Amino acid sequence: MEIKGKIVLVTGANGGIGGALVRGLLDKGAAKVYAAARSIASVAELAQLDKERVAAIRLDITHAASVAAVAEQCGDVAMLINNAGLNRCVPLLGPTGIESAREEMEVNFFGTLAMCRAFAPVLASRGGAIVNVCSIIGLVNLPVNGTYCASKAAVHSLIQGVRAELAPRGVRVVGVYPGPVDTRMTAGQEMPKATPDQVAAAILAGIDAGDEEIFPDPMSQAVHGKLLQDPKQVEKEFATMIPA
Ligand SMILES: NC(=O)c1ccc[n+]([C@@H]2O[C@H](COP(=O)([O-])OP(=O)(O)OC[C@H]3O[C@@H](n4cnc5c(N)ncnc54)[C@H](OP(=O)(O)O)[C@@H]3O)[C@@H](O)[C@H]2O)c1
Repeated sequence: MEIKGKIVLVTGANGGIGGALVRGLLDKGAAKVYAAARSIASVAELAQLDKERVAAIRLDITHAASVAAVAEQCGDVAMLINNAGLNRCVPLLGPTGIESAREEMEVNFFGTLAMCRAFAPVLASRGGAIVNVCSIIGLVNLPVNGTYCASKAAVHSLIQGVRAELAPRGVRVVGVYPGPVDTRMTAGQEMPKATPDQVAAAILAGIDAGDEEIFPDPMSQAVHGKLLQDPKQVEKEFATMIPA
């Protein structure tokens, strides 16, 4: 789907990947970008980049009224990028496992589902697209982030199901599976990370190229390659990364 000339809504626009996506969309000639965040002040700088083309909007994807209001306000959207996400960075059996799993499911799965449901009619009316930012660790569990991985596995399944349901209505559904990216979400974690700008550029190039699944960085590409060949071996390797 060509980005040039399109009206796009990005959730979590104040975050690392979200902000880079907004900037990249402007560079690629999007007609308008709704930069959605829980706090309008947090996207004020982005809105200053191009007062004509960036509209800052308040959105909490876990609040039904907020989602409904935004779907009503942004009825001209042709592409929805569900980028907002939460990672509590805890293992499944740790002290906060249940509470963290619920919070992550609420944002990553139920919030994304609510956005897909609210925007499906808007997008079906113009042959639009939904881009869901999942994670490579939605395809294999990394035990130090065990609860987050489970929520992203649910997102992966959501992507497949929503893709099937929306195909007859002419809406494309794209899944994005990044590896580690240098954002607030991974702050303090020592490991090789892609930059948000690199990842956003690869996501937008994949959308333009018509890809259905996007692995936007070297780490995600390497892990995906191994998953295709020997998923059990990848599970075993990731299983060695257990909490201290
Ligand atoms: N960083 C990585 O290594 C990595 C790897 C794979 C996938 N991802 C995924 O990439 C996406 C973007 O993450 P990031 O790395 O850019 O992290 P980030 O900088 O922490 O951004 C996360 C964004 O999600 C927003 N958000 C959280 N809960 C929300 C809610 N209830 N309603 C609306 N927005 C909400 C945050 O807003 P607030 O500022 O208001 O909290 C923030 O804008 C996420 O889906 C994440 O799971 C990240």
